[in-house]
Amino acid sequence: MKLGVIGIGTVGEGVLKILSQEKDRLEAMFGREVEIKRICDIREKEFPFGEFNFTDNYREILDDKEIHTVVELIGGVGKAYEIAKEVLTSGRNLVCANKHLIALHGRELFTLAKENNVHFYFEAAVGGGIPVVTPLREGLFPNRFSRIRGVLNGTCNYMLKKMEEGMEYEQALQDAKDMGYAEADPTFDVAGIDTGHKISVLSYLAWGELVDFSEISITGIDKLTKKDVEDAARDGKRYKLLGEASVTEGRTSICVSPQLVGCDELLYSVEGVYNAVETEGSYTGKTVFYGEGAGMDATASAVVSDIYKVLLNGSWN
Ligand code: HSE
Repeated sequence: MKLGVIGIGTVGEGVLKILSQEKDRLEAMFGREVEIKRICDIREKEFPFGEFNFTDNYREILDDKEIHTVVELIGGVGKAYEIAKEVLTSGRNLVCANKHLIALHGRELFTLAKENNVHFYFEAAVGGGIPVVTPLREGLFPNRFSRIRGVLNGTCNYMLKKMEEGMEYEQALQDAKDMGYAEADPTFDVAGIDTGHKISVLSYLAWGELVDFSEISITGIDKLTKKDVEDAARDGKRYKLLGEASVTEGRTSICVSPQLVGCDELLYSVEGVYNAVETEGSYTGKTVFYGEGAGMDATASAVVSDIYKVLLNGSWN
């Protein structure tokens, strides 16, 4: 299966690294090859784990009829939206990690994928390396969900931990950026917008409806100080930026806000870059997914799992 990767930032680099490092093992496992035919970014980059055909013009990927699967990792809803539409309408599969794109344009993109009989996978859009998208679509689908909530932003959770350890807000944010956790515009993280995008995607998976993003009530951690966090710790509590979606009388409501969580609650122990998603299903009861929610390797692992899912589910060569 021939692949084009558009956007070689932190996650893109991780995807190239895993595909290169695990190439022989994955080929032996699946009996078929994933070939990275071309990669695209504004600037050419070199990597110690392999050489790639580079272009700074994404048209060279979109116009290449041999490329059946495009991995979009530029993020945002500008060029990424145009690329996504073109990939799907031209009958190619799309893999992305773009929660922003799905939260705003998911409805249209899901329809396009269906109409054109292609795959559209986005495991890495929520929870970084935690597989939570696939279980909601597959393992848990018999359930009616009453609520989904979770710690969904690695940057904020990492910052809150660092502030609890005595770091000032700005330093904690810089640290999270240096670790490769933050969005290109970290306001999306600290203002709760990224969590809003993610809980919106989860709510779509649970209830099949995308809530209008402007209707979501969002408060971030950007007003919290080191003192707030330290005071909470003295009371045996922690602030967690929670995304929560529930259904009341057939209506889905979504909310994002920092909440005080006591040490008797499971989410209290979700520290640093870790995320946790808790679903409440009519048959399964509470199910919790836990793991690294951001960062190069964990997120790239989810993207690579989607790429192989395309390989397994189609007759692409
Ligand atoms: N900026 C995001 C986070 C990246 O910190 O969770 C993973 O989606």
